[in-house]
Amino acid sequence: MLSLVILCSLLFIAAVNCAAPLSLHTVAEVAVGGNVVIPLLGYDTDIGHSLTATITSLPTTGKVYQLSDVYSKYGYDPKVGTEITSVNTVVTDSKMRVLYVRPTPDRELSGDFARFEYTVSDGTTGTAASSAGTVVVLGPSKNVVGSDFSSSNDGWTIEGNRVAGTAATYEASSRGSLNHYIYATDDSLNMQSDTDKDLWYFSAPSSFLGWQGAVYGGTMEFTLSSFSGDFSAANLNSQSYLVELYCSKCATNTGVTISYPLSATSFDGTTKTFSISMKETGGWLRDPENTLQAWTVPTKCDFIEVLSGLTHVKILGDFTKWYESVSIDNVSFKKSNAKSNIPVCAQGSPDASSCTCTNGFTPP
Ligand SMILES: *[C@@H]1O[C@H](CO)[C@@H](O)[C@H](O)[C@H]1NC(C)=O
Repeated sequence: MLSLVILCSLLFIAAVNCAAPLSLHTVAEVAVGGNVVIPLLGYDTDIGHSLTATITSLPTTGKVYQLSDVYSKYGYDPKVGTEITSVNTVVTDSKMRVLYVRPTPDRELSGDFARFEYTVSDGTTGTAASSAGTVVVLGPSKNVVGSDFSSSNDGWTIEGNRVAGTAATYEASSRGSLNHYIYATDDSLNMQSDTDKDLWYFSAPSSFLGWQGAVYGGTMEFTLSSFSGDFSAANLNSQSYLVELYCSKCATNTGVTISYPLSATSFDGTTKTFSISMKETGGWLRDPENTLQAWTVPTKCDFIEVLSGLTHVKILGDFTKWYESVSIDNVSFKKSNAKSNIPVCAQGSPDASSCTCTNGFTPP
């Protein structure tokens, strides 16, 4: 142990990377009103160090507790120990586990239950504590974030119409299978050589933006329906993109757009629920940001980096070359059923800007 510390220090002096440990992003699931033991996943590339975890931000709903001594040592109930009420509290369990407890009474939310952050340290000098990892606690729906429009338009806006950034219209009544939803109508056609140049989109509110890495490997789901418009094949904006994900700070601040082509699916105006795989292999294409180059399949690193710093999320409303009215309901980013979802190779930094994943299968 001592010799490893010395070796590490020597390597550090020799400017060979003796890396700070990583605090891996973690997704935990909990029942409504339930509780869950969450192991905080530190990852150390240097052998022989034992890691310590520190809670650096607290959840907005629910509470975090240390494990009781008896549970920590022998696995016997009760699990609950001292409540963690302030940031920079060191986790006492030697396996870096904490207990997350839902409030009572409780109910499922449209998105995640809570997020909190932690760092890990290997206790050596010369290596600082890691950057913070995020713990996302999900309910039974596995929704990382969602809008069900049960009481408002949830902050969704319309982009690309004559007045950009107008609020989407909220409708609290029901129409067909839609009940409590938002809609918008095309108010700007700009036809140039048979193409509608002013496409309008539903633009997601800030709850969908920023770090949403927990949805990697899961799905994006939403239901679309149209009241009016000519959805015959010849009248469709068939070369457009159904979904656009944009990250302005990706690729060292040059920005990356990853879009899902409408041609990979279809929409004829009748009510349809879409479920799109949130993986680089799900049918998405990366915009080359250069009209002379072709769109390409994004790499695993591209995809995870975009999900780790979303600047906008847009869903097409302008399906036709003429005027149409389109409504949308139940938009969500949903975690997959897999146990773990963000590969370690994409966690060299919390925003995945340091990523060494190759395409194909990466063990979790
Ligand atoms: C939206 O979700 C709610 C709650 O899960 C469900 O009752 C409703 O049928 C969904 N609406 C559509 C249009 O799928």
